[in-house]
Amino acid sequence: MKNFSLTQSAELIGGKFDEDPELHIPEYPRFPQEILAIPFGKLGLLFEGAKGTQVLNGNAARQFVPSLLKHLNGRNSLADLQTIFPKIPAKSIRDTVALLYSRGLLESGDSEPSKKHEELASFLGRYADVTRINKNRGEALDKIARAKVAILGNAAQAQPILAALSNQGFSQLNLHESTNNLSQKIDLLVILASNNKEENQAWFNFAHEKNIRVLHAHIGHENVQIGPLIIPGKSACYDCFQNICVEPEGIPGTDMSFWSAMVALNAFHIVSMIGTPRLYNICHQYLSDGKGRYYEERRVVRLPGCTKCGLADCKPKLSEPNGDIWLLHNFANSMPPRELMSPRDYQHHYAAANISITQEIPEPYYGSEKVILPEGDESLGQPNWLGESPVTKKYFDVKDLGNILRYSVGYEPVPNGQRRIAPSGGGLGSAELFLVVRNIKGLADGVYHYYAFSHYLERIKDISNHMLQGILGITERDLPQLLLVGVGSLKKLRQKYGNFAFRFSNLDAGVTRSYLHHLLRGHGYEYTEYSDVRDKALAELIGLPTMGNRYLITYALGIGLRKQDAYLPRTGVMSCMDSLVELSAKLGSQPLPDKADKIPNLPPQKLTSLKEIFRARRSERNFSSKAIPLPILKGLCQIAYGNYQNRLARSLIKIELKLWVGVVQGNDDYVDGVYAWNPQTQNLELKTAGLKPETLDETMLQKSLARAPVVFYITGNFEQAVTQYGARGYRDLISCAGTIASESLLASVAYGIAGCPWGGLAEDAWGPLFNIDRYRDCPLFGVSLGYAL
Ligand SMILES: Cc1cc2nc3c(=O)[nH]c(=O)nc-3n(C[C@H](O)[C@H](O)[C@H](O)COP(=O)(O)O)c2cc1C
Ligand SMILES: [Zn+2]
Repeated sequence: MKNFSLTQSAELIGGKFDEDPELHIPEYPRFPQEILAIPFGKLGLLFEGAKGTQVLNGNAARQFVPSLLKHLNGRNSLADLQTIFPKIPAKSIRDTVALLYSRGLLESGDSEPSKKHEELASFLGRYADVTRINKNRGEALDKIARAKVAILGNAAQAQPILAALSNQGFSQLNLHESTNNLSQKIDLLVILASNNKEENQAWFNFAHEKNIRVLHAHIGHENVQIGPLIIPGKSACYDCFQNICVEPEGIPGTDMSFWSAMVALNAFHIVSMIGTPRLYNICHQYLSDGKGRYYEERRVVRLPGCTKCGLADCKPKLSEPNGDIWLLHNFANSMPPRELMSPRDYQHHYAAANISITQEIPEPYYGSEKVILPEGDESLGQPNWLGESPVTKKYFDVKDLGNILRYSVGYEPVPNGQRRIAPSGGGLGSAELFLVVRNIKGLADGVYHYYAFSHYLERIKDISNHMLQGILGITERDLPQLLLVGVGSLKKLRQKYGNFAFRFSNLDAGVTRSYLHHLLRGHGYEYTEYSDVRDKALAELIGLPTMGNRYLITYALGIGLRKQDAYLPRTGVMSCMDSLVELSAKLGSQPLPDKADKIPNLPPQKLTSLKEIFRARRSERNFSSKAIPLPILKGLCQIAYGNYQNRLARSLIKIELKLWVGVVQGNDDYVDGVYAWNPQTQNLELKTAGLKPETLDETMLQKSLARAPVVFYITGNFEQAVTQYGARGYRDLISCAGTIASESLLASVAYGIAGCPWGGLAEDAWGPLFNIDRYRDCPLFGVSLGYAL
């Protein structure tokens, strides 16, 4: 394996800090003296002593940075530094500080830690930047001193944990053998579980009732468990944990002091937040079998059926069909609550590796035939909510293809390059389109890939009608002229978001679906969805490399179809039977809807053409405090929810989504509070009056997005989707959430409102905010809306 070193310039990092309201360079930067800065190679400067080794390169690294470091003492502001280095441009100073900060080499402000814990303070100083939860060593020391920590367990067995935590700056630390004298105001209770199952259960029940955070630990004779950290009302409870993991057996073995130190270290991390403890719904198991020791990380989840977790009567249970989808969903998407997250969790966007992914140019299909796209007229029509969207075209006109592809998944030129027109998770443009063409005048039959980056088609291969029929489950007479196959490119998403990639690619797919809906309707087409398509077979047909799940099929839409009611079955005896055999082979597709999907009674809009709306949309993350007028807010809900319903009208999979609205900034017409959109009455129903932005902070990763006057929250009925449609229903649940978000963004642009979708959710806080169980109303996606600053 080759070792890559990733490089980004100070200028680039500095620019990112300017653009992003979540990033703040410390006002009084301080370079911890404990970190060593050593000359390295010809022009390099190597840093050792913080998390990982960092190297800065270039003339500035060797000449300017060392003298700058001397003045980064926590007392000089950026302005002071400019006075100290008058010949260096202010921007370069700022960019250099930003670079040092982004590399984890700075604390903020001066702090004078007490002499009592000098070594501890020095450690905390060097690692303060690992999480950035503590501005500096002083803040971390303070947290430790103020925390009430108790250990509950057999005195002899728990004593080494107590010993390991002593001398670490705690001033309220106690060991208990029973819950009798245990104070109820404990910040962290470490329960050392034992062979006594009844006692374990009683202790955890006590903590659950008293709403106390518990770190579970069990040191058995051979096996050891550390975690999970159980937070009542948020994480999985002890009962659910036991359903998934089995407590170790036996009394603590010989390496008890080692394991006690490990437990103590994790408790120390939870309290100090100097490291992000990976303990929320996670149990670290150190196991052994005949072959030796091994490590296993076990995820735990709130299980359907659990009363303590608020999921009484929920289906399907773990042992029932499709019961595993809930586990997989949680394993893939689980995020700790805000209290356990660090600003770093968001800032990994700025890790050198992740900036590089966003900048990568996608690779074309080498060896394919390049087909220039015909450009039609420039008009895209109106958004569907404004017009009757009449179906004016029965056959697909190749001239429309350029527009439809460019505006759904393509790019437009901007002064410094290109920008993708539709929003996408991380700006990675994971949603791509393949086309299967049949009988379109001006375009040879076959399978094509749209190479969005340069706006042309790549012809990949021929197709047979027979294969296509089988895969779509329809008869030959129903085959569309154009099949649009949505594909999620998981490769990049995975690199950046790991297991989130499945959710993000389906959200991206939902966004594209919303764009395609407008574009197809705007160009005078009706379309149908093949809800029941066999993904693997379709992937094979279009020649998609699915090895290692690099690509994922997300939907298939047919355009240019014959109207079904114009068909009379053939009447000959033999052909009649043939028809029945063919028709009964699959579920088939949803008939085309007859109704136009105009949305009535909307207030007047600033932008009324699709092209203007698409081009004007940008993700906005800084909002003024101006409230959105109530009729407009209702209009946004009508469009967002109405177009999700319009989407369902074309699908065989009917899943149930809800739209919640958090209003932080109301006006004379409506109060701040939590609302639910009622699609029957077309009204916003007030659930709770009064709402503070700090409450919204808890529901998401980015503070700036919680400072919008209005935030949309989209939840879906996981239980219904999965019990009725299995994993396909789960996929559609996510994709439909993408559609609602996209529609709300497009509608807001039309009203001169800006917004930003966010997939970075802290789902635990959605529970109390909307009084939902996070299962039948499963948090999926959010959108912040308001007027740009
Ligand atoms: C599925 C999805 C998830 C997103 N999640 C976030 C997020 O968590 N935070 C954020 O600031 N932006 C988020 N965005 C917005 C993208 O970062 C943004 O669309 C992209 O960078 C392109 O910029 P633009 O929207 O201005 O064209 C998300 C967008 C999509 C479609
Ligand atoms: Zn439970």
